[in-house]
Amino acid sequence: MKLKVVIIGGGSSYTPEIVEGFIQRHRTFPVTDLVLVDIPAGQEKLEIVAALAQRMIHKAGVPIRLSWTLDRREALLDADFVSTQIRVGGLAAREKDERIPLSHGVIGQETNGPGGVFKALRTIPVLLDICADIQDVCPNAWLINFTNPAGIVTEALLKHSKHKRVIGVCNIPFNMRTGVAEILSCDARDVEIEFIGLNHFVFGKRVFVRGEDRTKEVLNKLLAKEMDYSPANIVSLGWTKEFIESLEMLPNPYHQYYFQRDEVLEKDIRAFRENGTRAEVVQKVEKELFHKYKAVELQEKPKELEQRGGAYYSDAACNLMNSIYNNTGDVQTVNVQNNGAIADLPADAVVEVNAIITKHGPKPIAVGRLPLSVRGMIQNMKAFEELVIEAAVTGDYLKAYKAMVMNPLVTSDKKAKLMLDELLEAHKEYLPQFQHSRAYVQNR
Ligand code: G6P
Ligand code: MN
Repeated sequence: MKLKVVIIGGGSSYTPEIVEGFIQRHRTFPVTDLVLVDIPAGQEKLEIVAALAQRMIHKAGVPIRLSWTLDRREALLDADFVSTQIRVGGLAAREKDERIPLSHGVIGQETNGPGGVFKALRTIPVLLDICADIQDVCPNAWLINFTNPAGIVTEALLKHSKHKRVIGVCNIPFNMRTGVAEILSCDARDVEIEFIGLNHFVFGKRVFVRGEDRTKEVLNKLLAKEMDYSPANIVSLGWTKEFIESLEMLPNPYHQYYFQRDEVLEKDIRAFRENGTRAEVVQKVEKELFHKYKAVELQEKPKELEQRGGAYYSDAACNLMNSIYNNTGDVQTVNVQNNGAIADLPADAVVEVNAIITKHGPKPIAVGRLPLSVRGMIQNMKAFEELVIEAAVTGDYLKAYKAMVMNPLVTSDKKAKLMLDELLEAHKEYLPQFQHSRAYVQNR
């Protein structure tokens, strides 16, 4: 039987990881056709990655037919699963998302800070186009979205696209679970963390190991810095006793941006002076990775890929596809439409929670109300996300301003406007929907 997977953004340096994921799971998830798709600007990278993927498949001896193309619609024909891992404007655009806010003394944060606003504005229209193609060409396919800001993008698609088979995924809950399993010396499959919140703003409410509540013990390990589940892009600053004891939940590594803002800003400025922004560091890492990928002797995913924050993302993606395909009914953490899972958030909001995965998709598990200590912040973050989506689909200047000024990392209304105008100008080639809003800016 045919099982076809299409990777949009196939020229990404992360692709060897997902290819490895398919090879490792071939017995239960027997991919027969794997198509890597990219845009003309990414052709060179796509060819290098496809050649490496072909060598990996050959070495593993699995019967996966691999191909690559720049023709997205042709690639999508008969697809069962599509994954999106694109970066509109590339790392050069990310550099601006990080640099411009920093030049105003504000943390850029390319996924849920002011930088993330612009990543969303550039990305949502492109993903909506991709979804329209999927709906047209392979309406039964599941779209597994990795493209950041993953929670916002997934919500935009579920609200504004006809195609509803969309699930957002992130490696953070996955890393938290494996981090906990490691410190407790047990199998990650035996660890269940009750997640509550939003992408990059999720909390681990309770930790169970084979049904036994081990939350307190795990919180102590985190406090003692015995456990660190931060991805490569985030250096943990540690947490204070008061913070963890009063929160009574596991924070995720991105929470440092909100609860340790002063220290992170200082750290970001220092890092910027030494090595430039994270985008610049990542550009160097990518260059080295592609140099490695070109070597014909290389037949597997190189270790150096672990320098990227998204390392292991493909485990989350492959596990999800595997469970949908086999209708397993196991529990995974995904970005899905809330539908009452979190009582204090709108039904059509996308939340990051545990869900039962079947062939009909994820069924979120209800987690009740948000704990009072974080209720306000999560609701603020969700409202901000909704504003970003409205701005992205309308191209309305004041909506974009509203999103910017409501982002918790943005410290003043004046700075919000300055950053907004500079970023609108810097990214104009990727923001066609704001064409008239720029005139609005100039006329004021
Ligand atoms: C984390 C996040 C990803 C993000 C990555 C950034 O893993 O979950 O969503 O893309 O970090 O890593 P990078 O190496 O690009 O800075
Ligand atoms: Mn993520």
